[in-house]
Amino acid sequence: MTDTIRKSVLPPQAFTAVALEIESLPALKPKMIATIKAKDYCVREETLDGRMLTIRGIRSDDKEMLQEGMHHLSKESIYARFFTFKSELTDNELKYFTEVDFVNHVALVASLDTPAGERPVGVGRYIIPDKVPKENKAELAFTVDDEYQGLGIGTILMKHLIVIGRANRIERFVAYVMPDNRRMRDVLRRAGLPIKYKQDSAGILEITLTLE
Ligand SMILES: CC(C)(COP(=O)(O)OP(=O)(O)OC[C@H]1O[C@@H](n2cnc3c(N)ncnc32)[C@H](O)[C@@H]1OP(=O)(O)O)[C@@H](O)C(=O)NCCC(=O)NCCS
Repeated sequence: MTDTIRKSVLPPQAFTAVALEIESLPALKPKMIATIKAKDYCVREETLDGRMLTIRGIRSDDKEMLQEGMHHLSKESIYARFFTFKSELTDNELKYFTEVDFVNHVALVASLDTPAGERPVGVGRYIIPDKVPKENKAELAFTVDDEYQGLGIGTILMKHLIVIGRANRIERFVAYVMPDNRRMRDVLRRAGLPIKYKQDSAGILEITLTLE
């Protein structure tokens, strides 16, 4: 493990660390610093059943991992994430999902420690839609391999996206969720932030969290 890997960091402490760096380097733009931190983000966590997990920024060389990850998702999970059925990601999608700027698009990978090395099992991201760059609102999306769902990994990814989102001055997170997606609703509720629900005509829930 490298020096940058720290043992489980609580969100307020991590946020304070980022904020302090921003204050101590006034010559640099805050967003620039937050971007550097998000790209290099690397913390250690523990799943609910005691396995060690690394949360790190996604890299451009994660394309194969992401494509492979599609094969570890059930049809139900794929539909819950993409609102359509698909078995593969296109080259353009792989590029879009892995070559992120860590400002308008932040993506974190959750990897379990295994004897064979790093085993990526989940990805959480937020994206500021092109249309509303000034609204400071970002859209959340998550996937955790079916085999590892329910171990707290989605909740941990959410916690770290909140840390980075706050450092990047995001005001609201929005997620589009099927009403019967109890696990995703739990992940959002567990964040402990003010939460609002709106349902569109197709029945999809728009869930908004306000970052304080
Ligand atoms: C939705 C999804 C991302 C949630 O991730 P996850 O890792 O399965 O979720 P978590 O384990 O963190 O949280 C849900 C469960 O953990 C429990 N949990 C998590 N953290 C906990 C904690 N600290 N203490 C106690 N319980 C906890 C919850 O009670 C819940 O329990 P359950 O087994 O009864 O469901 C994942 O299930 C998934 O990929 N689904 C398919 C794709 C999808 O729906 N994406 C969302 C649309 S954007």
